[in-house]
Amino acid sequence: MAQISIPGSPAAPNGEPKPREPWTIEAAARLYGIPEWGNGYFGINDEGHVVVMPERDAKRAVDLFEVVAGLRERELGTPVVIRFGDLLRHRLREIRGAFDTAIRDHQYTGAYCCVYPIKVNQQRQLCQEVRDIGSELGFGLEAGSKPELLAVLGLTENLPNMPIVCNGFKDSEFIETVILATKLGRHIIPVVERFSDLEWIIRHAKRYMVRPRIGVRAKPSAQGTGRWQTSGGMRSKFGLTMTELLHALERLKQEGMADCLNMIHFHIGSQIGDIRAIKGAVNELAHIYCELKRQGAGLDTIDVGGGMGIDYDGSASSSSSSVNYGVAEYAADIVYRVKSVCDAAGYPHPRILSESGRAMVAHSSLLIVDVLGATKFPTDATGDEVRGLMEKEGSRPQPVLELIDAFDALDQPRVNLLEVYHDAAQAVDEAMSLFNLGYLSLPMRSATERLFWAVGQRVLDRAKKKGAVLGDDLGDLPQILSDIYYVNFSIFQSLPDHWAIDQLFPIVPIHRLDECPTRRGVLADITCDSDGQVDKFIDARSPCKPMLELHEPREGEHYYLGVFLLGAYQEVLGDLHNLYGDTHVVHVSFDDSPGVGDWDLDEVIEGDTVKEVLAYVQYDSEDLIRSMRRDVERAVKAGRISVSEGQNLLKFYDVAMEGYTYLE
Ligand SMILES: Cc1ncc(COP(=O)(O)O)c(C=O)c1O
Repeated sequence: MAQISIPGSPAAPNGEPKPREPWTIEAAARLYGIPEWGNGYFGINDEGHVVVMPERDAKRAVDLFEVVAGLRERELGTPVVIRFGDLLRHRLREIRGAFDTAIRDHQYTGAYCCVYPIKVNQQRQLCQEVRDIGSELGFGLEAGSKPELLAVLGLTENLPNMPIVCNGFKDSEFIETVILATKLGRHIIPVVERFSDLEWIIRHAKRYMVRPRIGVRAKPSAQGTGRWQTSGGMRSKFGLTMTELLHALERLKQEGMADCLNMIHFHIGSQIGDIRAIKGAVNELAHIYCELKRQGAGLDTIDVGGGMGIDYDGSASSSSSSVNYGVAEYAADIVYRVKSVCDAAGYPHPRILSESGRAMVAHSSLLIVDVLGATKFPTDATGDEVRGLMEKEGSRPQPVLELIDAFDALDQPRVNLLEVYHDAAQAVDEAMSLFNLGYLSLPMRSATERLFWAVGQRVLDRAKKKGAVLGDDLGDLPQILSDIYYVNFSIFQSLPDHWAIDQLFPIVPIHRLDECPTRRGVLADITCDSDGQVDKFIDARSPCKPMLELHEPREGEHYYLGVFLLGAYQEVLGDLHNLYGDTHVVHVSFDDSPGVGDWDLDEVIEGDTVKEVLAYVQYDSEDLIRSMRRDVERAVKAGRISVSEGQNLLKFYDVAMEGYTYLE
């Protein structure tokens, strides 16, 4: 069994390995922040490969590089999403365990149930796993739309005790289905988000003679923190104001249904970074619960919504990609707050529900992508080289002379680096203007650009040697000089939240970690959009860094990167930009029984084919093939193409139609 590094020692102040320190896998783990964001589920083995430990057990680790090689042998290329069901199970058990401990510690007499909002990742296989583990743990499911309701009702066949919470906008048909499902024997709770929902519930309940369990969503004054803070607060889109809550109870009393008002709910946003926001909001909700109970509502359940966040950047802070608390603290605070408010009011402890979607599934999926190549910005030009070119061309453009002066000035021992850099930047701008006016040749422009990068590199090296802190202007230099790594995936499909809301995700090479990375780069995807780029990376010591430390790609060898913590929202929010479709997905589990490798391939869900994505946008592949055939025949007739060339083109067209949308 390989040795696995999960070190906890702090990194050097700049997050890089200390100079002249021999490179180790511990240094790699520190550089990429694995101990901080990995939550014990990820590490590096002594071959320098990233491993997944689905049960936080170093003896039961799956080598990701081995898995990718095995998939390739089975003709499943990258990009590929790998899901770990064992990790999902571990995570759900951890949430259960945290609440069980809190309930025990606080002598809480109510129960706890976590309902999985399937909008977080509706993929059938994943939802089935959540359902199966959830039914062992007393968990439930949540639906936020009509299609989700139908999926959840089907998923919970023969599980009458599994709680189902129905949030979101509803119409009469939705509510009629819920009422009939109650009659069927399901534990289903429609949540009143708008007053009109209540009238439909009353109408259908009376019609079918059902005593439904009703939930109401409150608009609390408390708000979450971070990107989704407007999900809470008095002006939030969903929920009833306090006045509407009282009217709802009165209306139910008129119908003799006050006992049906079982649950009070709120949701103050996703990825809440600061535990204080959760404490405050739960406190408020518990008071609303007690007040409504005092007014005669038959409440027995308090639903604290979603919001439990994930430490994506490993900073353990309240920043937008992190959280300043863990599962245990989250559970303890909720249980304690609900208990103390109910004790003071003299009411029994209610059942607590949480809708912790992100916290359940984020860790369990990751994406593997391959690097197609890299663009580097050479920094080896010299003043003499450019002088030689000027002589050859017989021209001495002033900005180029000034750039050479800046380069030469860096030979002097006492030089103001910022001043030299400003001069060089000005000179290169002016040189570009000369080119645009037709006064600078292309070879001279090329030499000018290269000399500017060389000045930048020398300034950077000198500044580092002096231990200088890079200020505003020089601070951009490392980024200007960084490489661009082209990666075979689409951000719009696979990392939509990075593109849309600057969400950070940990990205790490999954192999060669026993080797010091010598390059720094940004990652460009294969869509033809300049937004299709990752240029913000996690950095536990600052909000984020603009480049990632990478290895020099080797000729004829794959270089794979892993993008981690992708299980929540990313798989289902992605879009078809440039018609890059769903990636392959595989389910992998640890298995050290005799045989090849320590992992099993439990399930393969092949990604979209070209034909499938074309069908989404109403193209018929047969029509397209027929059009191509006609055009080939025309070209053969006109003598522009031979019959066999035409056949080759049609064969390519046919094969590509059935193939993966990504580069193969
Ligand atoms: C009503 C409701 N419940 C639960 C969730 C899931 O939240 P999270 O994934 O942060 O746990 C959401 C998502 O925003 C939501 O709107």
